[in-house]
Amino acid sequence: MTVRIAPSVLSADFRKLGQEIAMCDAGGADWIHVDVMDGRFVPSLSFGVKVIEAARRSSTKVIDVHLMVVEPENYFDDYVKAGADVLTIHAEAAPHLDRQIARIQSLGCKAGVALNPATPLSVIEEVAHMVDLVLIMSVNPGYGGQKFIEYSIDKIARTRLLLDQADSDAVLEVDGGISRDTIHRCWEAGADTFVAGNAIFGAANPQAEIEVLRGLCVEQV
Ligand code: DX5
Ligand code: ZN
Repeated sequence: MTVRIAPSVLSADFRKLGQEIAMCDAGGADWIHVDVMDGRFVPSLSFGVKVIEAARRSSTKVIDVHLMVVEPENYFDDYVKAGADVLTIHAEAAPHLDRQIARIQSLGCKAGVALNPATPLSVIEEVAHMVDLVLIMSVNPGYGGQKFIEYSIDKIARTRLLLDQADSDAVLEVDGGISRDTIHRCWEAGADTFVAGNAIFGAANPQAEIEVLRGLCVEQV
């Protein structure tokens, strides 16, 4: 089964952003996760198109953009032009999910839908067959370095079932509090793509940490 490790640049050292991204790229990161926050959907502000461009120029990997913003449709064109390969919108911020998924895909980009911890899985039931990615938030979005919410494990398992029932090969990504302590259980429940900020950029050796995390996504005897 595919396992992807996606370092979140939110936890990178912004004095040397390009180097940090290139370091992850060279260190075996599969995707580069870019968290866009607007100070409205979530309390904090992060960054926008310039950082997506910088990520694109610093890496050959998939640029995975997580839009924690209201009215995400306002950003699709610019962010795809800037180099996003995946645009993930929050179901809570997008009442017309069918339309927005189709709009992202029409730009030649993969479309993801993210769910906050308190949002029921049922909101994506009808579009499960058309999404390219489902992102299960295992913290309340807005900040790096938060504690993993345990009940996310069960939700990941139910998401895997939903995707299987829809005959979908969508990516199942998990984001928030992913570390040596939590990644195996998420993998076991059916996630295949793991965002990690603090665990990677806070490690003494971030490149080695990517491989440690990947190595935990196996059957344990
Ligand atoms: C949280 C962001 C995450 C965050 C993850 O709102 O969506 O991508 O950077 O950071 P860690 O891995 O430190 O929880
Ligand atoms: Zn994220």
